[in-house]
Amino acid sequence: MEFLELAKKRYSERRFSSRQVEGAKIAKLLEAGRLAPTAHNLQPQRIYVIASEKARQGLVQVTPMTYGAPLVFLVCYDKNVSWKNTKDRCYDNYDSGEVDAAIAATSMMMEATDLDLVSLWARAFDSKDLIDLFGLPENIIPVCLLSVGYPSEASKPSRLHDSRKDIDEIVRVL
Ligand SMILES: Cc1cc2nc3c(=O)[nH]c(=O)nc-3n(C[C@H](O)[C@H](O)[C@H](O)COP(=O)(O)O)c2cc1C
Repeated sequence: MEFLELAKKRYSERRFSSRQVEGAKIAKLLEAGRLAPTAHNLQPQRIYVIASEKARQGLVQVTPMTYGAPLVFLVCYDKNVSWKNTKDRCYDNYDSGEVDAAIAATSMMMEATDLDLVSLWARAFDSKDLIDLFGLPENIIPVCLLSVGYPSEASKPSRLHDSRKDIDEIVRVL
């Protein structure tokens, strides 16, 4: 499939089938996250698979944003590992960790689409809730919950999916 076809096929799904995602597909999703580019190739992305019933039940107590998906990843970065645009080189001390994790999550989302799965990226949560729930160390920063599954009979793109600004509104030629 051409990349733009895949990009058009992807949409945010909030109604998942209860069908479990096969282990081989989970492995491919994780591989997509592993292969993603990162600043200075420091690979700070950390991907938590919400696998146990205990973890799943805990998660739904702190956020409704996984919508009953059978498979959820918590994509984070390790702030002790991510590349910093350091001041000693007259740069602005920018930390690339969140971008690195977002690229990894995007790759996983597109891989899910390619595998005929549906997905939802969610950030409407309080990081502290997830840190406490999963006992994450202080260097691990949550970036998004990525829910993945098979579509249900009710699945379809939401209204916002087809709403995109014109190219002229988002592109500036300098
Ligand atoms: C950074 C980010 C955060 C998001 N957080 C949420 C969220 O917390 N809950 C939710 O239902 N959707 C969330 N979304 C999904 C967006 O609402 C969705 O991508 C947007 O409306 C466009 O729709 P589409 O993905 O179907 O094209 C998020 C998407 C991104 C990229």
